[in-house]
Parts: sequence; structure tokens; C-alpha cells
Amino acid sequence: MSDVTGSVVLVVGASGVLGAEIAQRLETSGATVIRAGRTPEHLSGADTFLGDLTDEAAAAAIVTAAFGVHGRLDGVVIAAGVVAFGPATEVRDDTLHQLFEVNALAPMRLIREAAPHLAASAAAGGKPFIVTLSGVVAESPTAGLAAYSASKAALAAFVQASSRELRRSGIRMLDCRQGHTETGLATRAIAGTAPAFPAGLEPAAVAERIVRGILDDEKDLPSTAF
Ligand SMILES: NC(=O)c1ccc[n+]([C@@H]2O[C@H](COP(=O)([O-])OP(=O)(O)OC[C@H]3O[C@@H](n4cnc5c(N)ncnc54)[C@H](OP(=O)(O)O)[C@@H]3O)[C@@H](O)[C@H]2O)c1
Repeated sequence: MSDVTGSVVLVVGASGVLGAEIAQRLETSGATVIRAGRTPEHLSGADTFLGDLTDEAAAAAIVTAAFGVHGRLDGVVIAAGVVAFGPATEVRDDTLHQLFEVNALAPMRLIREAAPHLAASAAAGGKPFIVTLSGVVAESPTAGLAAYSASKAALAAFVQASSRELRRSGIRMLDCRQGHTETGLATRAIAGTAPAFPAGLEPAAVAERIVRGILDDEKDLPSTAF
């Protein structure tokens, strides 16, 4: 079991529902949490940094700023994301760009930028981790969500492959593929309108499960884990 007491953890997307819930639970477990988000009014806490992940330079800037607070980084949670609905044949280029920048490319860049700091944490005796939230669509690409599913499947593939590389440096990766969760994400879609979903998972329960996965040294959280 991992003890996060005294660990420094960066939560990207801490301004979102799941990011905020995970950040708060990590703090309760004894971690020092550094929060990053896009919208200032959604963020609060001691060490907060703003960045728009559609900006190619944001990932490096966020990781550098977060590392600078305490001169170390022991964990990264990437909980930023956007969704879009609609037929695959009608998806617009700007929607494709935003989905892939925020859901796939920015997390890949964050992982790349954080890896040296996390490797240093492992070398110093820590148990560093990276958590991603690709969601059930990465396992079961869904009609009406083709581009969103593709962006999340890209992230899940990157995590699956890079986890085999990073574990040599002592870094554990944990991809979380929870199903539909009642965070209101669907109401903030960047394109299209959500169909009527059956009731989803409770955000608090999902965040609790993810933090348990971090603390219990789990290496994967498929949809069946939620
Ligand atoms: N809710 C679900 O059903 C569900 C299911 C499976 C996976 N997920 C994934 O879980 C993650 C968290 O989602 P959530 O449900 O908690 O939704 P949420 O409350 O809408 O949170 C989304 C977060 O992403 C941030 N974000 C969006 N665009 C950004 C950008 N361009 N630059 C920087 N940050 C950006 C938002 O920042 P601001 O609001 O501050 O702008 C917010 O912090 C997402 O990756 C989502 O795809 C959600």
C-alpha cells in the first residue's frame, strides 16, 4: 500500500468535478496537492496554476510551475477533458482539434514532462504515480461519441504502452475507465447534445475508487472496477 503522506501531487483539471473530488481526497490522505485548471473562478487552494491545454506549451509550463513549488513531484493526476456528441460524419475540424488536444495530446505531453521529476521521486525512495481518466469509451467506443471515443482510446493506448517503459524508472501508471458519471460533463459538451443517459455513477464514489486505486498500488482501473 502506498502512503501519500508528504507526497507532492499535481492535479490537472482540478477545477472540474472529478479533479476537485480527487484533489480533496488526496489532501485528506496527507498529500500536498498542487492544482491546475483553465478557469480561475473554478479553482481554489494554496498552489494553483492556470493553463489552457489547447495551448501546446501549457503542459510543460504547468509541470515546471508545479515542480517549482516544492522542488519535487511524486504524483500527477490528469482529470481535464472535454466531450462532444454527434454523428461521426458531421464532426467539425475545430471539434476534432479540441478533443484531441485536451483529451489526448495534452495528457501525453504532461506525462512526458512529468516523467523525469517522477523518476527522481522513485530514485529518492518514493512511489510515484500518474493517473489518467480515459473512461469506458476507451474500452467500448460508442456511437454518437466517435471522436470523443477515439481521443480517449488514443490516451489509453499511450498509457498502456508508456507504462511498460516508465515502470523501469519506478513510475506506476493508472488509467481509469469509469462509465458515465453525474458530473454534468455532458451538459458542457463542446459540440452536439447528449442523448438521454441512464443514471450515471456518483462523482464522489468514482473519486473514492480512484484514490483507493492510488493508495492500494493498483495498476489499472477498467470499467468493471467501478
Ligand atoms: N463525467 C463522465 O461521465 C466521465 C466518464 C468517463 C471519463 N470522464 C473523464 O473524466 C475527466 C473529468 O471529467 P468531469 O466529469 O469531472 O468533467 P468536468 O467537471 O467538466 O471537468 C473537466 C475539466 O477539464 C478542464 N478543461 C476542459 N478544457 C480544458 C482546456 N482546454 N484546458 C485546460 N483544462 C480544460 C476543465 O477546466 P475548467 O472547467 O476550469 O475550464 C475541468 O477542470 C475528463 O477527462 C472526462 O473525459 C468523465
